[in-house]
Amino acid sequence: MTKAVKTIRKLAGEAPVEAAIILGSGLSDIGSMLADSVTIPFAELKGFPQGGVSGHGKDLIIGQLGGKRVAVLTGRQHYYEHGNAAAMRPALETLAELGTRTLLLTNAAGSLDMDIRPGDLMLLNDHINYAGMNPLIGEETDRRFVNMVDAYDPELRATTHAIASRLDIPLREGVYLWYSGPSFETVAEIRMAITLGANAVGMSTAPEVILGRFLGLRVWACSSITNMGAGLLQGEEISHTQTKEVAKLGAEKLMRLIPALVEEL
Ligand code: HPA
Repeated sequence: MTKAVKTIRKLAGEAPVEAAIILGSGLSDIGSMLADSVTIPFAELKGFPQGGVSGHGKDLIIGQLGGKRVAVLTGRQHYYEHGNAAAMRPALETLAELGTRTLLLTNAAGSLDMDIRPGDLMLLNDHINYAGMNPLIGEETDRRFVNMVDAYDPELRATTHAIASRLDIPLREGVYLWYSGPSFETVAEIRMAITLGANAVGMSTAPEVILGRFLGLRVWACSSITNMGAGLLQGEEISHTQTKEVAKLGAEKLMRLIPALVEEL
């Protein structure tokens, strides 16, 4: 048992957690949805994200959502913070040990598709690991050869679309391309990402999806679109401030969508 598992069980109780939700830039308010919750600062949990990025929270919240016991991480670690693509592995292993079967990931992303606009949600159906880094480098067992076909669980995606139409939440779907960041993309890089077949770009999520599949979790991911990719919108100035602000539009939709999804897990 990891040290973090022991701390969490001591502070939040022994009952298993069914799902875990990781919140992206500007999306940390989603954590406030949990009822009967216990909040544990990452600083008290060995292996959880230390340091941090503005617009991200620094807490693990355990509580009730959609009739289930869930864990929410109000922030994450990114490859660009230190060059370690496996930075989220200890936290994800801890969540798996607590009983998590389903991993719900959220992020802020730039759109490459004129039909997917700032404020929209885009469900991920696949990714392109353009950063080229893999969190399983150094893993020594054959488990490292993870099959990534249908990594974004098709059944969960179908359920999400059904819920979104029932709740009247517009929901797009597409391929997410992972650039390492932290600089935003050049105009040429955005053109390339479009040519490669991506619908959105961002600086996170893909390594967590690989780790989630490695741990045998069902994985779901959704982007809150905060801007159009560099050069796609005349006069748009891409910034982290904009990311944090516009992500909130998506957060409002996610706060309706996620509880309904968790209820159906
Ligand atoms: N590029 C990469 N990451 C992002 C963007 C973007 O345009 N917007 C929000 N996160």
